[in-house]
Amino acid sequence: MAKHDLDPNYLDPNYEPVVNQSGNNPFQEVLAARLKRRAVMKGTVGAALASIMGMTLVGCDSDDDDNDTGSVAGVQTDLGFKAVPVSNANQVVVPEGYSAKAFLPWGTPITGSYPEFRADASNTGAEQEQQVGMHHDGLHFFPIDQKAGGNSSTEGLLVMNHEYINQAALHPTGATYVLGERPADEVRKEIAAHGVSVVHIKQDSEGAWDVVFGSPFNRRITGNTEMDIRGPVRGNSKLVTKFSPNGTETRGTLNNCSMGPTPWGTYLAAEENWHGYFANSNPDQPREQTRHGVGNSSRYDWELADSGADEYVRFDVTPGLGDPDTDYRNEANTYGYMVEIDPFTPEAKPQKRTALGRFGHEGVIFASVTEGKPVVCYSGDDSRFEYIYKFVSSQPYSAATAGGYLLDEGTLYVAKFNDDGSGEWLALSLEDADFAAKVAAAEGTMVGDINFTGFDDQADVLLNTRLAADIAGATPMDRPEWGAVDPNTGEVYFTLTNNSNRTEAQTDAANPQADNRTGHIIRWTEESSDHAAVSFDWDIFVFGGEQGTETVVDGEAVVTLDDDNIFNSPDGLWFDYNGRLWIQTDGSDAEPYQNNMMLAANPVTREIKRFFVGPVGCEVTGVVTTPDVKTMFVNIQHPDANWPFGTEGDHPRDATVIVTRNDGGVIGA
Ligand code: FEO
Ligand code: CA
Ligand code: CA
Repeated sequence: MAKHDLDPNYLDPNYEPVVNQSGNNPFQEVLAARLKRRAVMKGTVGAALASIMGMTLVGCDSDDDDNDTGSVAGVQTDLGFKAVPVSNANQVVVPEGYSAKAFLPWGTPITGSYPEFRADASNTGAEQEQQVGMHHDGLHFFPIDQKAGGNSSTEGLLVMNHEYINQAALHPTGATYVLGERPADEVRKEIAAHGVSVVHIKQDSEGAWDVVFGSPFNRRITGNTEMDIRGPVRGNSKLVTKFSPNGTETRGTLNNCSMGPTPWGTYLAAEENWHGYFANSNPDQPREQTRHGVGNSSRYDWELADSGADEYVRFDVTPGLGDPDTDYRNEANTYGYMVEIDPFTPEAKPQKRTALGRFGHEGVIFASVTEGKPVVCYSGDDSRFEYIYKFVSSQPYSAATAGGYLLDEGTLYVAKFNDDGSGEWLALSLEDADFAAKVAAAEGTMVGDINFTGFDDQADVLLNTRLAADIAGATPMDRPEWGAVDPNTGEVYFTLTNNSNRTEAQTDAANPQADNRTGHIIRWTEESSDHAAVSFDWDIFVFGGEQGTETVVDGEAVVTLDDDNIFNSPDGLWFDYNGRLWIQTDGSDAEPYQNNMMLAANPVTREIKRFFVGPVGCEVTGVVTTPDVKTMFVNIQHPDANWPFGTEGDHPRDATVIVTRNDGGVIGA
């Protein structure tokens, strides 16, 4: 079940509002695109066509042949396990010969005085600050010896995001209000249940994983941790707050969905649906808020904490009567970034890297690095009709000196997917002649529902990344979620989870389904396999859907989904170190799909098999393995009650599931 159906705070139709009113892709362009698409036949839609014609295609041939292998330069990416069926059981299902065990559930003590989790959820805010947060999401395993060039698969730092909370589960009796105010310790606990956990873990001689008690690396970063603003937006007048009169600092990171490990051993946490944490009761909102959907009340009402403490009132971004450094009118401008955390330096302040743009960052994925070449990373903006971005550093990569500074200077591009299978990266830089001309032409006009008055400077462009991408003419996508880069070919994959709002007139070749409820996965190859290139070739890897859904290339069905691999709403996406692609879902749990799941794909043959099914109510999000690909960590977010420990009346506990092969072999092989 999608989170929107589970958390009452997500039932608000404005939670993930359609805020792109730019109208990119005018009608005549669409018409031409469709005529062309018929001829090109790049990834047409069998199931959509079938449903339009009132047919259901069932029982098509399975391509699930165990002899299918994928081979690139001798690398085997075949899928050696037996697919698991769909399931509606309140437990994790893995293939025969595999085991699964819940680990690091919400509330596990990891720092400070290691306060024990209380099953009635009565832990205080201060205790939550020392325990694993809620609603686990993206995660990464850093080998403990990584800085020394090692590759440990038995000890490391597991770093994970805690995207949001379920207030009903977090407190003994849910969120409370007294005379319109919220008890401050409840608010403190909610803020502490967000953010990131860094957990030093180690395998014992029996192969069991546990937290390394007292490790200096164990750390909680929360919605209240002090952070620096870095890159072009640092010190901008629109970031001035009472807390940081010079606009260089802020407190907290929120709604951390996916992440990306950097080539230099740090962790970037994404800030996705941050807009919902702020309230602005002034109807005349700035474009930095309207283009994201900040409302007149916040999701959890933190600004109503009864203590009136500064760290809580800041979530009210209504302008006061004084100067900007006397209130928090600009607080929301300190959110919407990728946040760099160095797990190996526990005292290091997290750094918000503004050069990567400000939007609803789902996550980030780095291309592999080469000495002397720029660093390149990709990030999707997960809302309906938003965009896919790429950052190319100005300075070249050098293993000896690489660090976060590489992310502070460079060019942010946005993707335009042409209907003939080509694509372009459009620079969002005032130094780019094409972009500067489009900005000049747009001045004084309405861009969507924003009266565009120009950009002051490049920092203003980045602060308003979505608006800049509207002006550049980017392709509005069906909710870009995670990306992944094939370690064998360099191809870039992105999940487009769904978009029930897309009309027939708004379809294009890259988002070809109206009322897209099942999603698809797109992929591209950069020109000359150079990740810094400004053009690329794309195709659709697979369409989600029910049995019989076809992905057609050049008139031939290259994938036909069957009982072993039906899925909908692909979200998490990760290539393991051998090059198998792992696809996680956050979609409808109605028939025929049942609980959310994870599948493995062979990127060469497009063979796809269901590997894992989550418990009732959850989404399956976040996957990583140890370097030897023998221990897999999979996050379960927002499970139903009684999971994972099965006691009647339990508060549900998000957890990391450890998957291993009983014979100690490589996962998926
Ligand atoms: Fe947090 Fe877009 O999923
Ligand atoms: Ca997601
Ligand atoms: Ca999702």
